[in-house]
Amino acid sequence: MRITQAILPVAGLGTRFLPWTKVVPKELLPIGNEPIIAHLVNECLAVGITEICFVINRGKESIPQYFYSNPQLEAELKKRGKLHHLEELKRYDEVDFHTVYQEEQLGDGHAILQAADWVKSEPVAILFGDDLFSGADPGLAQLIKAASLVENHGAIMALENIPREATERYGIVEVESVHPKDARLKKLKGMVEKPLPSEAPSTLGIVGRYLIPRSTFAVLPTIAASHGGEIRLIDALTAQLGTIPIHGYECEGKRLDTGTPKGYAEAVRVLSHT
Ligand code: UTP
Repeated sequence: MRITQAILPVAGLGTRFLPWTKVVPKELLPIGNEPIIAHLVNECLAVGITEICFVINRGKESIPQYFYSNPQLEAELKKRGKLHHLEELKRYDEVDFHTVYQEEQLGDGHAILQAADWVKSEPVAILFGDDLFSGADPGLAQLIKAASLVENHGAIMALENIPREATERYGIVEVESVHPKDARLKKLKGMVEKPLPSEAPSTLGIVGRYLIPRSTFAVLPTIAASHGGEIRLIDALTAQLGTIPIHGYECEGKRLDTGTPKGYAEAVRVLSHT
């Protein structure tokens, strides 16, 4: 399987980090010497993806800007002999970046839909801005490896086994069968958003990494907004359950949710020295 494109939806309002997310996108918070968003872009480059589309909202232009070349600064660094910095700045020169806007925050599925006209890759990778991995191959590399075990790829998403009392905070999957060659790979028969612990069909929570087929972009506009007025990717994939195989892969390593102040602090602690 050759995946050439990834969509990184980062148009959320970051309310859990207000007030400072009024002026600085949470995706630019540093982990080690790089912002969170660079960790996600690096994860894409590591699997050979060369085209990346950011979905942003107005005011988050500094996210794509971080990756664009800055000839004036580069000339100045050259003049001052700071070649080490120069090399670092040129790291993303060969990557084809694209940016689209999500004008209203109508959900993660709606965010992805804004990139529909740009997508050529089959499948395309989706990485949400909040989730990072430690202690193993990044989630995307694991998903691609797992997808190669399945003949008809359909869609595949990253999963994490969570404590039952936490199901109300996640999308939870219902498993149909386990792959004979890799017990971490599950064929799915359903997905439920934030179920009560007593009603959750499993304790496998969905993590923000997906490989989705282009057919999902035709389904997304037909999805009615669910509670909170949001169009969600999970609802589009649920609608596709009868027509394409949908798998989940219980990723190795620790998933780090940088979307909350506590989770971000933990990610800094775990990843800063790796
Ligand atoms: P979250 O649900 O974490 O929302 O989105 P958020 O705005 O980033 O953060 P809070 O809840 O207000 O603190 C999960 C991912 O989906 C993207 C976000 O940028 C984040 O990467 N997203 C969500 C969009 O791009 N657009 C949306 O309409 C919703």
